Amino acid sequence: MSLSKEEAKKRIEKLKEEIRFHEYKYYVENNPVISDFEFDKLLKELENLEKEFPELITPDSPTQRVGGQPVEGFETVKHKIPMLSLQNAYSFEELFDFDNRIKKSINKPFIDYVTELKIDGLSISLIYENGVLIQGVTRGDGERGDVVTHNVKTIRSIPLKIKEKRRTEVRGEVFLSKDAFERINRERELKGEPLFANPRNAAAGTMRLLDPREVAKRGLDIFVYYIYIEDKEPKSTHFENLKLLKELGFKVNPASKLNKGIEEVIKFCKEWEDKKRNLDYDVDGIVVKVNEISIQKELGSTSKFPRWAIAYKFPPEQAVTKIKDIIVQVGRTGAITPVAILEPVEIAGSTVSRATLHNEDEIKRKDIKIGDWVWIIKSGDVIPKITGVIKEKRTGNEKDFRMPEYCPSCGAKLYKPEDEAIWRCPNVSCPAKLKGSILHFVSRDAMNIEGMGEALVQQLLNKKMLNDIADIYYLDPLKVEKLERMGKKSTENLMREIEKSKSNELYRLIYGLGIRLVGEYTAKLLARKFKSLDNLMKASKEELIEINEIGDKVADSIIIFFKEERNLNVIEKLRKAGVNFKDREEVKSGNKLNGFQFVFTGELNNFTRSEAKKIVESLGGKVTSSVSSKTDFVVVGENPGSKFEKAKKLGIKIINENEFLKLIEGD
Ligand code: IVH
Repeated sequence: MSLSKEEAKKRIEKLKEEIRFHEYKYYVENNPVISDFEFDKLLKELENLEKEFPELITPDSPTQRVGGQPVEGFETVKHKIPMLSLQNAYSFEELFDFDNRIKKSINKPFIDYVTELKIDGLSISLIYENGVLIQGVTRGDGERGDVVTHNVKTIRSIPLKIKEKRRTEVRGEVFLSKDAFERINRERELKGEPLFANPRNAAAGTMRLLDPREVAKRGLDIFVYYIYIEDKEPKSTHFENLKLLKELGFKVNPASKLNKGIEEVIKFCKEWEDKKRNLDYDVDGIVVKVNEISIQKELGSTSKFPRWAIAYKFPPEQAVTKIKDIIVQVGRTGAITPVAILEPVEIAGSTVSRATLHNEDEIKRKDIKIGDWVWIIKSGDVIPKITGVIKEKRTGNEKDFRMPEYCPSCGAKLYKPEDEAIWRCPNVSCPAKLKGSILHFVSRDAMNIEGMGEALVQQLLNKKMLNDIADIYYLDPLKVEKLERMGKKSTENLMREIEKSKSNELYRLIYGLGIRLVGEYTAKLLARKFKSLDNLMKASKEELIEINEIGDKVADSIIIFFKEERNLNVIEKLRKAGVNFKDREEVKSGNKLNGFQFVFTGELNNFTRSEAKKIVESLGGKVTSSVSSKTDFVVVGENPGSKFEKAKKLGIKIINENEFLKLIEGD
């Protein structure tokens, strides 16, 4: 039964109210009153009504948290009030000094302070007008920041609508929980992407993403600590302001406390040095703020920080222990990392028995030997580090670490690219790398085998049905069918997908092999030049670097890959399975741009846009209107638009009109 527009409007209002209430309960208070299922039902109903009556969609609707389209880049704006930083205190003595300075300066015997946890994230400013969130801005350099409204709106603990109708600015710290951080890194590891060092970097990296749909998946959160309403101070004390923020529906950290005098502040700092371990987010200190706003005003600020606040930084937690052994681990990307096996020791509330040593050079630089007594620290970062060797404790029985010559996981001969510090295993089917290699091989941009998700691959590995990437083509459907969450139908679909992938274009196979430094773009160049996998396998370094875009390092990496016997065996298995090794398209004429995607921006001198498009298409390429990670070339004419900026951000190959001419005319 469909509703009239009037009825729909009423229902939409009601649904928005309800959803807002439940978002608050769930994301701010952590205290949901309905199930996820019921919540999703409300959201779905709202979405459907808004689909039917798009004119009734408002920017503060809960459906508008994740915008439809990636943005092209970030605009910057000036902060109305600069976003200052904080002075640091590393000891309680410095806190006493801070207190004395203030008392002296305003001639008062006693000061009240609010203490808050110093969340290790990135600060953000939220602007509301007429009660609606209209802008989110990063701190930037304190004067100007990036507009990240589209990303900020995806954070469910930020209200899109508040009761205060005057222009209101709210500031707070955006962060990622330790859980979310670990989940993100696990996913990145599988995709072979570089890992984030800590939750803070991950949160900052997330805020710089251009696609809000990606941001929404990461699970950012916020605690707010500051409110400013038009030209007036909302309340006379900071603690009341925090209360007001809570009333307006914001998430304020529950640990915040009003303290009578600096002694209470110090007690708070001591308490949290221990208690912070139980939190699911990183806290690197305590922020101490003068409670009375009138005193804050009187004290004022320097150009860098307010005189009325200070950050007490927790000392890094350390311990002394002994290195029992140094072993090497093979990462999912083949990187070999030495790891120190320690006499177990307690730091920051957890037992540490391993510490990464990064690479061979670091061991030499720090002069670390097996049997040494060392200092270990565990700060905000999750991985414990060795900071120093206690050489006085050496007995003479310590042993030097020697990098193994062969992979401890598969026995392939390790190699170290020139100018790099890290040794690597070149075997695509090394058991330590296999899961990552397979997920890469089947991924959408490589062989595009739909239905081979992580869960299935893990089962196939556990059952030893996959021992190298080529085994995908030798799977027994009768066995696959019996796996968990598989059945006849899904197995049939999977088999069809696998079969179909055999006739993929050559570049997909080259990319899918996972040769280090050979991305999709390089794979396309290689396919075009060598025309078959066999030619590529035989190619000399000189022939490889004939391709403009290919330098020494990439060429070396390709040569090493095809020298490894284990890889050659896999390739033979792929050949026997009937996987296409030839650049079939190349045999025909007029498709030298086959597989390449172009975007044009700015005015061209020699053609109109549609002429350029026709030329690209006639050569087998594709033209799209917006830049994405799939774009191979952005052709920049005069007065280019924001696509140019976006291409730079994404690191996409940018060429001018002359280079484009060469590309279509030249060989
Ligand atoms: S107050 C002028 N309160 O720490 C007041 N900052 O090192 C400046 N931070 O840029 C900020 N938790 O990103 C404040 N409860 C808190 C905080 C906090 C984390 C961050 C913030 C700031 C940095 C200064």
